[in-house]
Amino acid sequence: MQTFLVTGGMGFIGSNFVLKACKEQWASIINLDKLTYASNYQTLAELEQHPDYTFVRGDICDLELLKDLLEQYKPDAIVNFAAESHVDRSILNPHAFIETNILGAFRLLEASRAYWEKLLGQKRDSFRFLQVSTDEVYGSLSPTDPAFRENTPYAPNSPYAASKAGADHLVRAYYHTYGLPTLTTNCSNNYGPRQFPEKLIPLMILNALNSKPLPIYGDGQNIRDWLYVEDHCDALYQVLQHGRIGETYNIGGNNEQTNLAVVNQICTVLDQLAPKANFQHAELITFVKDRPGHDRRYAIDNSKIQRELGWEPKESFASGLLKTIQWYLNHTDWVEQVQSGAYQAWIEQNYGDRNSSTAV
Ligand code: NAD
Ligand code: TYD
Repeated sequence: MQTFLVTGGMGFIGSNFVLKACKEQWASIINLDKLTYASNYQTLAELEQHPDYTFVRGDICDLELLKDLLEQYKPDAIVNFAAESHVDRSILNPHAFIETNILGAFRLLEASRAYWEKLLGQKRDSFRFLQVSTDEVYGSLSPTDPAFRENTPYAPNSPYAASKAGADHLVRAYYHTYGLPTLTTNCSNNYGPRQFPEKLIPLMILNALNSKPLPIYGDGQNIRDWLYVEDHCDALYQVLQHGRIGETYNIGGNNEQTNLAVVNQICTVLDQLAPKANFQHAELITFVKDRPGHDRRYAIDNSKIQRELGWEPKESFASGLLKTIQWYLNHTDWVEQVQSGAYQAWIEQNYGDRNSSTAV
């Protein structure tokens, strides 16, 4: 069995990837995670005794640690999920985004290069460095623009997107300059179990359950292309197995929705699964001050990954959303753990000054 060094595997997508990798025996997993606010140690508690799983608490900016881990575990692939990932936080405090997303990726590339250059034969030929990136690096589309393709020019608009773009450029440079066998994926918005409730879908589910306002930025007509997280994990595995080195693969859900439509669907499901006696959940919808530099529309053209690797999304939005909502209803302990004092402070910081609601 192969060994993957997964970074950021205690976060939303990383934890779903690690669980799937262990369940489907893709590889032995070494999970390196700093355990920032966005992660929760309990997320992967079920793997604690798993023979193919090792957790290491640490920072991808720590070059010595990275070198030691690579020497010790001799992975066949590195999958870099570790990042600061929330656009609103990047607007209020970009510093950590530059540190982890750019400097951390740089250190990981440096450690990987030193390790890979010493490998021999088949182990060297089959080594892969996979950078898990985002469609946000491509900027914003108008309603009639064609969807993002792999050759769409980068035009990041938020500090988060710019930091991911910076890392993607470094990954590209390490392939072209040093021959490091890299792969890059640019994926659309994910949703599913274990997503930290600062992001749209879990925030709306939990606010609605607690009868709190559902804060929609601007006019609610911004469009995202939603992909169920397990479909993303399957795509990453396909890219690792069969992707052409040095290439980029876009990954999306073929599922463009306005934010308002997404929130209305959440409310409809909750009206059935967790009905309130005296009101419908959609009555909680509140339009609030827009996010600065808010990208209007993202959409992914999946044709390359579909053509080359045979991947396409399997989960429909209706079934994926139902599974997601059921997961949050069934994991109240997890929810309580992540909604710590720090979470409350974030809600106050981000939404406290959005009170001026825009009439729509
Ligand atoms: P997340 O914020 O839920 O998790 C990030 C994880 O990285 C956390 O466990 C955190 O503790 C860890 N981490 C942060 N800084 C670290 C550091 N310096 N060293 C080690 N670990 C560190 O993020 P996510 O939503 O799971 O996203 C994972 C990756 O996928 C990110 O690179 C993100 O840019 C990308 N991505 C996310 C989406 C999405 O919709 N969530 C879409 C496309 C791409
Ligand atoms: P988010 O989940 O933060 O992902 P991203 O900004 O990376 O796309 O936000 C998804 C969309 O939902 C985005 O257009 C911003 C919007 N949004 C709201 O309207 N209200 C909210 O409280 C949040 C968190 C997001």
